[in-house]
Amino acid sequence: MQEALRFQPVDAEPVDHADIVVKPRHLRRVTESVARGLALTIRGLRKAFGDNEVLRGIDLHIPSGQFVAIVGRSGCGKSTLLRLIAGLEAPTAGSIAFDEEPRAQDVRVMFQEPRLLPWARVLSNVEVGLGRERASADAQARAERALVEVGLGDKRAQWPSVLSGGQKQRVALARALVSQPRVLAFDEPLGALDALTRISMQQLLERVWRDQGFTAILVTHDVAEAVALADRVLVIEDGRIAEDVTIDLPRPRRRGSAELAALEGEILKHLLEGSEDTL
Ligand SMILES: Nc1ncnc2c1ncn2[C@@H]1O[C@H](COP(=O)(O)OP(=O)(O)O)[C@@H](O)[C@H]1O
Ligand SMILES: [Mg+2]
Repeated sequence: MQEALRFQPVDAEPVDHADIVVKPRHLRRVTESVARGLALTIRGLRKAFGDNEVLRGIDLHIPSGQFVAIVGRSGCGKSTLLRLIAGLEAPTAGSIAFDEEPRAQDVRVMFQEPRLLPWARVLSNVEVGLGRERASADAQARAERALVEVGLGDKRAQWPSVLSGGQKQRVALARALVSQPRVLAFDEPLGALDALTRISMQQLLERVWRDQGFTAILVTHDVAEAVALADRVLVIEDGRIAEDVTIDLPRPRRRGSAELAALEGEILKHLLEGSEDTL
């Protein structure tokens, strides 16, 4: 069972040393076990749009809580695969099975565009992620916790239009996290951000994944990002998984390290060779 960190009310304790910074007590972290990430098994998965057979037999098992990155050239079917996993698209053939039947909000997708409602304040935008549970008594408290989790507790009353691109993506992440999903799929979520914002968002994604224990599936065109974040990188080519590379390096990983660069080079070489005939 994964242990997750959450913000929960705890009783006030006397502070003996004035130099110790104590978080407000309603934001103190306590450990609590949560539902673990769902495992999924994909067998013989095919998807065609008319004559265009995009996925031609995907077989894949993702264990509970694994962080998987998916790379492949543009148009190879990465988004289609995510949409199938999230149930937004139906397979032409084959199956996708979870180890437990997911609840409505258990499998979530975060896209490149934050897709915030411009007429709703930040907190309301996060509450949207609760779906039908939005009517529950603790909806607002849950949305507030999710905003704190992504470092935007102080932006709850703002309009989306005043936020930076990175902040909007963090609101979108909070909206995805608020329902405590057991599978979180990311479709190039950082593609539109500048380099520095991108690195801090990568660190945020890694932290929330470690805290919450969901199974993460990240589609990215950035191979450096894939090897920095994932336990495993899948290369999709010609509608199939052409490579399945395990990234067995300790975390947190040092960006720019020789090991990461070597893995990145190996995967890039494969991608470039695979696309030679299409250039
Ligand atoms: N709803 C759709 N209708 C028709 N064709 C689609 C649809 N969605 C995706 N495709 C086609 O499927 C292929 C793979 O698309 P996609 O999964 O978006 O690729 P990627 O995310 O890897 O760039 C493309 O050729 C695209 O045009
Ligand atoms: Mg795509």
